[in-house]
Amino acid sequence: MTATDFLVTTPLPDPGMRLLEAAGTVTLAENGMTHTELADACASGNHRVVVAQLRDEFDATLLDGAKITGISNFAVGYNNIDIAAATANSIVVGNTPGVLTDATADIAVLLMLAVARRCVEADAFVRAGKFHGWEPELLLGHDVSGKTLGLAGFGRIARATARRALAFGMTVAFCPRPPGDRPVSEDELGEFAGKVRHMSWPELIETSDYLSMHVPLNDQTRHLVDAGVLNAMKPSAILINTARGPVVDERALVAALRAGSIAGAGLDVYEDEPRLAEGLAELPNTVLLPHVGSATVPVRAEMARRCAENAIAMARGELPPYPVNPEALAH
Ligand code: GLV
Repeated sequence: MTATDFLVTTPLPDPGMRLLEAAGTVTLAENGMTHTELADACASGNHRVVVAQLRDEFDATLLDGAKITGISNFAVGYNNIDIAAATANSIVVGNTPGVLTDATADIAVLLMLAVARRCVEADAFVRAGKFHGWEPELLLGHDVSGKTLGLAGFGRIARATARRALAFGMTVAFCPRPPGDRPVSEDELGEFAGKVRHMSWPELIETSDYLSMHVPLNDQTRHLVDAGVLNAMKPSAILINTARGPVVDERALVAALRAGSIAGAGLDVYEDEPRLAEGLAELPNTVLLPHVGSATVPVRAEMARRCAENAIAMARGELPPYPVNPEALAH
């Protein structure tokens, strides 16, 4: 590979590539990169900034050997990057916050409704030519109105989901930092003051008709929903995960869905993406999406713009507009 400003591991949607190409030289890996290819490219000294995807893993070993100044991640999440190791190696990391909040909340609500109303089953039923007219007991599902939505986390996406759920006439509860807790002032509640209930994690699990995950992936949240939690949920409850796959023990989830300890699950993310836990795809009480929380044309375009702007600033040795570890620049 020849020396370039930007190593792009997967082409960005418009206007991302255009902005990068106008600002500097680009090496483009058309079909993604293996971990070894990525590590070799980062160590080569041939690239200043890597424009990366969630599937590109930047572990401490790679980062300790890397001769790059920045990683611009095409995502709001950055659990694919060891941030402490990046900072220790003076590698600035950027992400794309803010723009995908509503789109991801839409997907959480879509999954909730799709599981509750058996949307995928119903669609397959019609396409298979099985629809022979209105029937009193055809494909009966569950209500969302009047039910309790429990939000694990209370950040931007959880709040956008709460807003939608309140409009559906749901009772909304949240636990801000499961499995622990933290105080939430009236000020922080803002528009939600008097409208949502703050619960401990055990209370949220036991009370929710729908439990929706909105936490980052870290050591505290890995397998936050495990066999014990699934057992403590209502047998009629539905689990929604649009956050990160490893937040849920997926094998325990398959077992719980099979045993009827919960009623259903709507997932956009998986523990070992893109692989699914054995048996998950065969369960009728699940709706499974391919990590499309932010997948609208305008959102991906805005993510691409922010990702490119981050990369361009990093290539100039400047602080990017959306830094994850600004301290890396001073390091
Ligand atoms: C998607 O999962 C993101 O973090 O942007």
